[in-house]
Amino acid sequence: MEKRAAVVRDGDGLVMVVVGGFPDDMDYQSGFGNHFSSEAIAGALPRGQNSPLICPFGLYAEQISGTSFTSPRKLNQRRYTANKSMDNCAFCDADGDFLVVPQQGRLWITTECGRLEVSPGEIAVLPQGFRFVVDLPDGPSRGYVAEVFGTHFQLPDLGPIGANGLAASRDFLVPTAWFEEGPRPGFTIVQKFGGELFNAQQDFSPFNVVAWHGNYVPYKYDLSKFCPYNTVLVDHGDPSINTVLTAPTDKPGVALLDFVIFPPRWLVAEHTFRPPYYHRNCMSEFMGLIYGGYEAKADGFLPGGASLHSCMTPHGPDTKTYEATIARGNEAGPQKITDTMAFMFESCLMPRTCPWALDSPFRDRDYYQCWIGLKSHFSCEKTNCKSTDLQNELKENECQSHHG
Ligand SMILES: [Fe+2]
Repeated sequence: MEKRAAVVRDGDGLVMVVVGGFPDDMDYQSGFGNHFSSEAIAGALPRGQNSPLICPFGLYAEQISGTSFTSPRKLNQRRYTANKSMDNCAFCDADGDFLVVPQQGRLWITTECGRLEVSPGEIAVLPQGFRFVVDLPDGPSRGYVAEVFGTHFQLPDLGPIGANGLAASRDFLVPTAWFEEGPRPGFTIVQKFGGELFNAQQDFSPFNVVAWHGNYVPYKYDLSKFCPYNTVLVDHGDPSINTVLTAPTDKPGVALLDFVIFPPRWLVAEHTFRPPYYHRNCMSEFMGLIYGGYEAKADGFLPGGASLHSCMTPHGPDTKTYEATIARGNEAGPQKITDTMAFMFESCLMPRTCPWALDSPFRDRDYYQCWIGLKSHFSCEKTNCKSTDLQNELKENECQSHHG
């Protein structure tokens, strides 16, 4: 871990010190969509106005605005691997917001609002326009990133659930002001703009914001705090029931991106096929696994892996999961799914896979095999076909298909 310089207040003066990294107990502000304010030095925030002629401590005032929705609505999904901390450079996405889902290795993310330590099992949102640096205190890291254009993430409406449930506002954590000062020769800002990367050099750190206030902020959320909902009698709920964050479109109920999780929870439904049903979806589904196993895939879908079921591609539990569920029968008691955290990026847009993904040696070319073993369990004798006509019709069809 690279040592980083920081400025601390010492008596009457500012003193440059070298710090070893993020402290063990980071300070955060909690809430979602709140108006926050934070000062690294008491009194640094202008009082009663935003742009005084002279700001406290001789600072410059700057606004970052996240609510000019003029970009086309689009979406990108990526997986990332990182083997090196960002050294003397920062990244900024001028195109959209990043939703980062680390799967392995903590991320120390320094932003202009302050610092976020994000562990696997937590997520971070880095809004459009914020400059940030990612350090890797645990060495190489990997995870998933979704990028949304033209809108921001918000908490889903809870509808009939009422006031409480799913992700609670109070569990979203926002950094407190933190800054560094001193010369940083050759500091590079890498800015993503219109899908291309541009570099700019400067001789100071962009993390020189001594105090800030507002509601356009980077934040993180611990997925273990999520309060999941599920069916308590029959059938399988739609995954939307466990939406953590949604990036909406103008069309009510249609998401540019829903971030949905499949956390530990009790399964209690009676005479019900408890895993997800077989389905085709007008939305496209990108799934990832942070840890543990996923209830609909007994094999093959591993932590760090991802699956993509594009719009109207049929999918559902693999053969092993189906057979095991059927074998358990109607008498399956309450069962707890534990030690797992899967998630889905669900979008109304049709994703394109990039050549890198298609050519990757890690691409599972045999994925479809997980359903190949599914066999027909149809037998008119085993069911209570009451109608003789129906029975005859089915038998006739069976004969035709056998002979056809
Ligand atoms: Fe699905």
